[in-house]
Amino acid sequence: MKLFLDTANVNEIREAKSWAILDGVTTNPSHIAKEGRAFIPLVEEICDILPEGDISVEVTATDMNGILKEAYDFVKIRNNIVVKIPLIKEGIKAIYVLSQEGIKVNCTLCFSAVQALLAAKVGATYISPFVGRLDAVGTDGMKLIMQIKQIYDNFGYETKVLSAALRNPMHVLESALAGADVATMGFAIMEQLFHHPLTDIGLEQFLNDWKELKNNFA
Ligand code: E4P
Repeated sequence: MKLFLDTANVNEIREAKSWAILDGVTTNPSHIAKEGRAFIPLVEEICDILPEGDISVEVTATDMNGILKEAYDFVKIRNNIVVKIPLIKEGIKAIYVLSQEGIKVNCTLCFSAVQALLAAKVGATYISPFVGRLDAVGTDGMKLIMQIKQIYDNFGYETKVLSAALRNPMHVLESALAGADVATMGFAIMEQLFHHPLTDIGLEQFLNDWKELKNNFA
């Protein structure tokens, strides 16, 4: 399963890249706005930090022509940009056009398996179901990932399941068990994946025992 960082913060992306496990980045208009920087130079910098990874950049138009215009502008910025398009009727129409032209699309704001079916039918590269936002309204977000996987497997759709809005390492584990192709998460969650208290305790013990041995034979 690929691991993406859900952020537009270049320091977080640089740091996560140094961990050697980062496969891509998902941004959204809220992440971009939070950085308080001009849009294009920020996107260029993100793409250049991880040239080998897919970088999702989201449109803000809500009509097909407007979405297409933004998409064509985005893909001129860098060739690792994936155009992120909301799962609305106009978005689905735009995804159909773009996928026919070989432009990569991440279909976002997916909250039901039938929505995901529509995205796959028009050739989206990724579908982004928002797990944590469903959990927050008392629905089982991970069940959606499983349903989408089953539908895509049933019909051989190639759209990749990108498990999004993850809130903790358990969400990452459950996404992997459900067969999600990608999990995107905030910086703090990605960092948490490395840690286990027994690893820290075990390492401390090994190092102390080793130090004692060296002291005794110094
Ligand atoms: C996914 O691509 C979205 O950017 C993101 O996961 C939204 O998550 P949030 O609910 O943490 O805003």
